[in-house]
Amino acid sequence: MARTAILNVMVQAATKAGRSLVRDFGEVENLQVSRKGPGDFVSAADRKAEEIVRSELTKARPTYGLVMEEGGVIEGTDGQHRWHVDPLDGTTNFLHSVPIFATSIALERQGQIVAAVIYNPVMDELYTAERGRGAYLNDRRLRVAGRTELPDMLIGTGLPFIGKGDHGRALKELRFVMPEVAGVRRCGAAALDLAWVAAGRFDAYWEHGLNSWDIAAGLLMVKEAGGYVSDMAGKDRMLETGDVIAGNETAHKQVLELLKRASA
Ligand code: IPD
Ligand code: CA
Ligand code: CA
Ligand code: CA
Repeated sequence: MARTAILNVMVQAATKAGRSLVRDFGEVENLQVSRKGPGDFVSAADRKAEEIVRSELTKARPTYGLVMEEGGVIEGTDGQHRWHVDPLDGTTNFLHSVPIFATSIALERQGQIVAAVIYNPVMDELYTAERGRGAYLNDRRLRVAGRTELPDMLIGTGLPFIGKGDHGRALKELRFVMPEVAGVRRCGAAALDLAWVAAGRFDAYWEHGLNSWDIAAGLLMVKEAGGYVSDMAGKDRMLETGDVIAGNETAHKQVLELLKRASA
């Protein structure tokens, strides 16, 4: 399906940022790295990529607002639209030369996410979605996995790092999920975790404590690939709570059930 003009703007911004990330990835030891908090790093690569995305998006749509991980919130004058931007999702991977990271951009219109781009420049994988128009990996239409039995399923998750989140809860959840499934993966980039659910690589994925820039694009990707997304209460409040569970219909339901049991 031909991309709309707005999706083309987002693709242009993400691929340009991706090229900058790949250049910096080759020189990772020379990057200036600082710590926003314990275990929470930011580098010149994040900032450069964010500036590229911000400038491309603002050039095309000067009145839209922005919610950016590094630059914070810029209110738009149009009041209807805003972008959610994670210039480098997977910073810790990036800084350790692990090639699992991406740029994630979502467009919110009147409170709804309507377009999404996630780009992993190392694998040259471009994930795109528009509300009602499906999700794609490069030119291939995406569909969530069809597995229905927990013992066949590969499940992604995110684990809290030093200074963040509830480590006891994470271990308890793993204790409930691990014995039931084929495998659990912690890949270190929430946007890609969701894109991989959309692509049918992961049957389901869950994580707590995320921000809109981590998940806004990925949530639309999963929905447009025919998947289900909710918070841990089964509600459509992922952007408010920061908690996400995503998967095909049965995977979503069964993993949600396991997580509820873990929290009982
Ligand atoms: C992080 C990644 C990670 C998730 C963290 C996020 P960042 O984003 O998505 O997988 O577990 O909660 O903060 O900082 O690399 O953009
Ligand atoms: Ca970060
Ligand atoms: Ca992120
Ligand atoms: Ca980031």
